[in-house]
Amino acid sequence: MNELFCKNLPTKPIPSMGKILVTGVSGYVGGHLVVELLARGYQLRLMVRGDAEAYKRRWPNAEIVVANALDPEQVKTALRDIEVAYYLIHSLNMGPKRFESADHQAALNFKDAAEENQVKRIIYLGGLGDVSSHLSHHLGSRIDTAINLIMGKVPVTTLRAAVIFGSGGSSYEIIHHLVKKLPILLPPPWAKNKCQPIALRDLIKYLVGVLEVPETAGGYYDVGGRDILTYDEMLKDFAKIMNKKMLFISSPFNAVSLYSYISSLITPLPYTLIRCLFESLQNETVCLENSIRDIIPFQPLSYKEMILEAITEKKLSK
Ligand SMILES: NC(=O)c1ccc[n+]([C@@H]2O[C@H](COP(=O)([O-])OP(=O)(O)OC[C@H]3O[C@@H](n4cnc5c(N)ncnc54)[C@H](OP(=O)(O)O)[C@@H]3O)[C@@H](O)[C@H]2O)c1
Repeated sequence: MNELFCKNLPTKPIPSMGKILVTGVSGYVGGHLVVELLARGYQLRLMVRGDAEAYKRRWPNAEIVVANALDPEQVKTALRDIEVAYYLIHSLNMGPKRFESADHQAALNFKDAAEENQVKRIIYLGGLGDVSSHLSHHLGSRIDTAINLIMGKVPVTTLRAAVIFGSGGSSYEIIHHLVKKLPILLPPPWAKNKCQPIALRDLIKYLVGVLEVPETAGGYYDVGGRDILTYDEMLKDFAKIMNKKMLFISSPFNAVSLYSYISSLITPLPYTLIRCLFESLQNETVCLENSIRDIIPFQPLSYKEMILEAITEKKLSK
């Protein structure tokens, strides 16, 4: 088993905590969160679509419930007798035309079901972005989800993150494949936008940390790593650490569709997902407030440390 991310977390497990529902456990963030919560002794119910038996084999110490967030009755059943629920659902895989309405409805169903079941708290992870600027469909939809959840009576803790960086994550896979396979990169103008990536390990620490600091119920927190850098710099730093000699020639063309298409040929990710993610790179995604650093104090990783950790993790998993 990998080293646990929350080993040195300054907060402590709450033994009296009732059952916790985790959604999105087949996803990148949810899958890692489950491991940490189980290791801290929490009782979990995992909400999944698909083959319950496969999830039971993966996490024999957790209860599994099959529910689709678009089905209000199933969500109500999933939330029965739950004290805290993590909301980690998003539908980007449905593609640009369908994900917004699905995410909108899923959040409304969840809000209603949580209220009916008198859940004490919801913890939601969304995306960074300045709401006063014109946000991409993807980032706008993450804000819409927060609003839909917050409209109910159950207090929601909202965390907002930019790129989550770690082995197996979509951002790492895109950068890794582009740097590994291309001799020349033509970064578009939006590659000069700023981002504050966060290591998967630090993100998980914040998700567990807010559970263990009940005063964060109803709060809104931006979470990020130590560095703010442009996407261009992220690619260059990655190439440097991989010891890869590459030519970077700035391109004047925005061409999100073309860049997404080319990237889908070079990386293992589908065009529809890359397109949604690249559209979001048009927005700056940096923390607009840092209060979480006082509430759950630890030093987040720098971008270079995240790269090294992700590369090592990838090698160990082979
Ligand atoms: N990954 C990042 O870099 C990043 C960065 C910033 C913020 N975030 C936020 O973190 C959260 C989790 O992201 P992620 O990257 O872990 O997502 P992900 O890997 O794409 O996983 C999404 C999860 O949502 C589930 N889901 C989708 N539609 C559902 C439905 N109708 N009913 C039940 N489950 C459904 C999926 O289950 P199925 O397997 O059944 O489809 C999957 O488990 C999202 O809110 C995202 O915006 C992620």
